[in-house]
Amino acid sequence: MENPYLPYPVRIKEIVTETEDQNLKTFKLLFVNPEDEERFSYLPGQFAELSVAGKGEVPIGIASSPTEKGFVSFTVNKVGVVTTRLHLMKEGDVMGVRGPLGNWYPWDEMEGKNVVIIGGGFAFTTLRSSIVYMLHPENRRKFKDITVVYGARSPGMLLYREELAEWEKRDDLSMHITVDATDDPQWRYNVGFVPTITKQKVTSAENAIAIVCGPPIMIRFTQPVLEELGFPPERIVLSLEMRMKCGIGMCGRCNIGEQYVCKDGPVFSLAQLRQLPGEY
Ligand SMILES: Cc1cc2nc3c(=O)[nH]c(=O)nc-3n(C[C@H](O)[C@H](O)[C@H](O)COP(=O)(O)OP(=O)(O)OC[C@H]3O[C@@H](n4cnc5c(N)ncnc54)[C@H](O)[C@@H]3O)c2cc1C
Ligand code: FES
Repeated sequence: MENPYLPYPVRIKEIVTETEDQNLKTFKLLFVNPEDEERFSYLPGQFAELSVAGKGEVPIGIASSPTEKGFVSFTVNKVGVVTTRLHLMKEGDVMGVRGPLGNWYPWDEMEGKNVVIIGGGFAFTTLRSSIVYMLHPENRRKFKDITVVYGARSPGMLLYREELAEWEKRDDLSMHITVDATDDPQWRYNVGFVPTITKQKVTSAENAIAIVCGPPIMIRFTQPVLEELGFPPERIVLSLEMRMKCGIGMCGRCNIGEQYVCKDGPVFSLAQLRQLPGEY
């Protein structure tokens, strides 16, 4: 049996600074041993532990889509010990990836449904993975209408700006980009908080499932909007961010009641979360 704590060695192929404050960078990683790419088989919503020699590991959502072959990517916010060291690494450096870990968005259940994706701030990473996955020619027909609401504090804090502009132009996706505020006269998208824009742009819950990922305050104010629209708690799906260590249900660091966020999650429906003690 393979050691589940052993990371795959990966080489940093490309680093993209995403936001104007330079605190968010996307790392495109290539597997040093090509056969590891096959072992690292994942679905959007899953995460991995990124390991940096001498500093430790951090759980990070997978930002690439399984339909993008030859690499895996992660967008990392510089907040503390490991992420600061990671931000200092250069293209060509070798680091580790352990995973894929956790569960994924309910892809089987989403087939044949309208999909509403709601994201805020840097938690958009696994939603980016989901959008790329759904838009892939082999997958697009499996889903009905796709609506995306994505917001950030300001235009310079949006992730994946080139892709957002491309998605804006497509006619098989309704894309609603928003910022909390801006004084940029060139800004041609929405201004307003994510729950407000959701209320304006999402008109029906019929045959629809909503995936919501963002800061706790955004989630708190988006939930009632979705419920008012008629989404039952079983069709509101959230991804949780907890402090984690092992990522495989062994250390007990991340449990909420009897559920381990690292193994049983991080993806839960609102109905499931309402069954849990109110720690999340
Ligand atoms: C399933 C999952 C997916 C995640 N996906 C992403 C992602 O795509 N991109 C990204 O940038 N981050 C993501 N995170 C958060 C990321 O794991 C933490 O920011 C990271 O572990 C911080 O490590 P550090 O050593 O740099 O910070 P530390 O030195 O450990 O801590 C610095 C600060 O960050 C806070 N912090 C540490 N860990 C977490 C955590 N897990 N959640 C919230 N706050 C924390 C600490 O309280 C402290 O204030 C994810 C977390 C989980 C559990
Ligand atoms: S992080 Fe160890 S049990 Fe979840």
